[in-house]
Amino acid sequence: MKRIFSGMQPTSQLHLGNYLGALKNWVDLQKEEDTQRLYCVVDLHAITMPYDHTQLSQATLEIAAAYMAAGIDPKKSILFVQSHVPEHAQLMWLLATMSQMGKLERMTQFKDKAGKNKERASLGLFAYPVLMAADILLYKATHVPVGEDQKQHLELTRDLASTFNTRYGVDYFSQPEPVISGPAPRVMSLRDGTKKMSKSADSDMTRINLIDTPEMIVKKIKKAKTDSDPLPDNLKDLEGRPEAMNLVTIYAALAGISKEQVIKEFAGQQFGKFKPALADVAVEHLAPITERMNELLDDKAQIETVLHDGAEQARKMAAQTLGEVFDIMGLSKVAMIH
Ligand code: TRP
Repeated sequence: MKRIFSGMQPTSQLHLGNYLGALKNWVDLQKEEDTQRLYCVVDLHAITMPYDHTQLSQATLEIAAAYMAAGIDPKKSILFVQSHVPEHAQLMWLLATMSQMGKLERMTQFKDKAGKNKERASLGLFAYPVLMAADILLYKATHVPVGEDQKQHLELTRDLASTFNTRYGVDYFSQPEPVISGPAPRVMSLRDGTKKMSKSADSDMTRINLIDTPEMIVKKIKKAKTDSDPLPDNLKDLEGRPEAMNLVTIYAALAGISKEQVIKEFAGQQFGKFKPALADVAVEHLAPITERMNELLDDKAQIETVLHDGAEQARKMAAQTLGEVFDIMGLSKVAMIH
């Protein structure tokens, strides 16, 4: 059976890039039959970089609320928090014994995040991809929807799966496949069409957050950078016009139509016409999500119940795998307490 696993870090507010690049895709994957889905809030990953410990648990609930508000249905998907299932950290340790430091050192994300002072980077940041491998292998996920930037980590996960099998002479872990898709895998900054929309960008005007009010959405789209040409009548002519391409991509993804259809509808029009139409689509699509998110956050009991149930289901699966891995690795389970 197909099993999907993915996760997001509770590092800060979600924006349109996270929504169109990941979350919307996760929701759409719920239509697939014969598929199990696990969507996790990966709080143990979030603490590998400096963070505000007074805000972490609230941020975790907010991400869970965003999952639910966007349409992740607890009846169709297991929704849980990574730290609620201790087996993640346990399997990570076991996998750490077969992870090569040289490979971890070559991870682009580690190099980016560690920056110039690698000597002072934490072991946690270094081992980040091993924890991610544990997340995936713990549930024997077959498909992992991720962004382009996480492909290298998926490669490492596949590597670890085969190292494990070879080292212990088993055919236990299979190879999880990355799924790089979503209606708009790369949503760019509203101020610079060559940079990804990001939560770390200085100006809030570069992104649309899932908690923005309709007024803010309208304002941000109105002020979005564009060029002075009208929209062309074919997609090819959008090349070399990254801001225009980005807005067309966003429109298409939100409206659930192709970019060609957008172009057809707006060919020859100025941005003065296109932007209000885009703002309408954005508000129409995002306002109900924002509203639902706020409702959920006003009454956290509902989110907590879902997370509690999710953790319970996830834990059953996780404990099963960990037990089997203990056996294969020759660890004694005699007095194991769960
Ligand atoms: N590293 C991923 C990211 O930053 C988040 C993540 C953690 C993840 N564990 C995962 C994604 C397992 C997919 C599967 O986007």
